[in-house]
Amino acid sequence: MEVLFSTSNKNKVAESNEVGRKYGVSFTQIHLFYPEIRSDSVSEVAKAGAEYVFTQIRKPLIVEDSGLFIKSLNEFPGAYSRFAFERIGINGILKLMDGISDREASFVSAVAYITSAEKIHSFLASDTAPNSDVKIFEGSVEGKITTEAKGEKGFGFDPIFQPKGYVKTFAEDVKTKNAISHRKIAFEKLCQYLKTKPAERTR
Ligand code: IMP
Repeated sequence: MEVLFSTSNKNKVAESNEVGRKYGVSFTQIHLFYPEIRSDSVSEVAKAGAEYVFTQIRKPLIVEDSGLFIKSLNEFPGAYSRFAFERIGINGILKLMDGISDREASFVSAVAYITSAEKIHSFLASDTAPNSDVKIFEGSVEGKITTEAKGEKGFGFDPIFQPKGYVKTFAEDVKTKNAISHRKIAFEKLCQYLKTKPAERTR
């Protein structure tokens, strides 16, 4: 089964296909622009994005939104992680964390799978949400922010995220990332759903 995945991030597509392979699901990247709404919730951002893209192509598809939530920074950058990564990057986060001993953090991923939408009123305000059929699948992984960047693999904040119970960052150990990551958990839930709900996926 093929599922369209609207994203500009090829790493996300590769990671999703690592999971999909086991279920006979293949995620195909499509590059359709969608405006990211301003929200603290990656689920809401993913949902609004999926609804927007659906209005463009009228075919079932997924949008994934994710972020790094740092406890001692009041969950910053969270749903604004892409913006933070582009503006201050890894070094900026390390600077913000300078002298902070509580380095607990988590990565969160939300996959929005949309199969239909009757009427799109507005994708910007939840009180005028479209009458759409969107399922959200979430995953998270706990860990800590390292004091320096380590590793060359992966993307984004991978070099400074060390998952709980492991000694390497995601950027040093992609095998571990693919086995336990927020994205892996969210896509596993989606694939389980697709496997057990064949009628809905063709609507
Ligand atoms: P978005 O989901 O495309 O809005 O991007 C979220 C941002 O969070 C990315 O640009 C990365 O900086 C960060 N991020 C999300 N998931 C990961 C991950 O698996 N590894 C490293 N950084 C991530």
